[in-house]
Amino acid sequence: MYTTLRKVTEKAEKLNFTVGSFNMHNLEMLPSMIMAAKEMGSPIIIQTSAGTAKYIGYGVIASVCKYMAEHESVDVVLHLDHAKDFQDIRDAIEAGYTSVMYDGSSLPFKENILRTQEVVNYAHARGVSVEGELGTIGGTEEGVFVKENEKVFTDPEAAKQFVEATGVDALAVAIGTNHGQYKSKTELNLPLLKKINETIDVPLVIHGGTGVKEEDIRQCTNYGVRKFNVGTELLVGWTKEAKRMFGQTKEDASLRNNILPCNDVVSTVIKHKIGIFLNLNAN
Ligand code: 13P
Repeated sequence: MYTTLRKVTEKAEKLNFTVGSFNMHNLEMLPSMIMAAKEMGSPIIIQTSAGTAKYIGYGVIASVCKYMAEHESVDVVLHLDHAKDFQDIRDAIEAGYTSVMYDGSSLPFKENILRTQEVVNYAHARGVSVEGELGTIGGTEEGVFVKENEKVFTDPEAAKQFVEATGVDALAVAIGTNHGQYKSKTELNLPLLKKINETIDVPLVIHGGTGVKEEDIRQCTNYGVRKFNVGTELLVGWTKEAKRMFGQTKEDASLRNNILPCNDVVSTVIKHKIGIFLNLNAN
């Protein structure tokens, strides 16, 4: 089913698992991503930056996701990641995205609330879910750059006020993760995550999932994380395999011979992550 963030996180909340939210970087990898989720029997959130969406076309991505969700019987959410511009949100929703993130985390607290409220009103009127962000996640990602000394952890009381005022469907929290961290792993502030989960009642979102130790994922899930973002690991895996394949193939050989192994790498990573996200041995 082609569905919303709210719907899949409700399911995840009931069964205590987290939904993998994977950044797609080109159209080639998209079908393998959805098929990997289907094979695992899990919903999947496909997320794109506004940059990727403009490169491929919002409508093209939405059409593929909707078509595959319906024809492969798998729950697919299509989510716009880290939008800061209202026009991008409007374009995504018009094209059929079922979820958007408004990232007002770099704004003063009140302004973040006011702008997020506007997005929630607009999106909810169209049946689309909204993720907000409070605190600052470190690292670098398209359109997002935060230095180590600029990282601010999410304050649980402020998060409560933010969620109540905005009506967001999910909240991205800053507990020590960094976008784009693939050469090392980060130390999470799990006691803070626990506190946030005890203080507010919305699904929590982890960004910078590539840099999270896999042994911490279960605890994140048990502390209310229902959307777990992974992007860089897919990008790096696809690119490494592409370099290897393109470096050794004849110029006039069919392109798919080079691309299929790259997509297989993405599929393997997604199946592995979903295997952990499903939290199968927990109560
Ligand atoms: P990584 O690229 O670090 O896995 O983070 C993905 C993400 O959080 C997208 O917003």
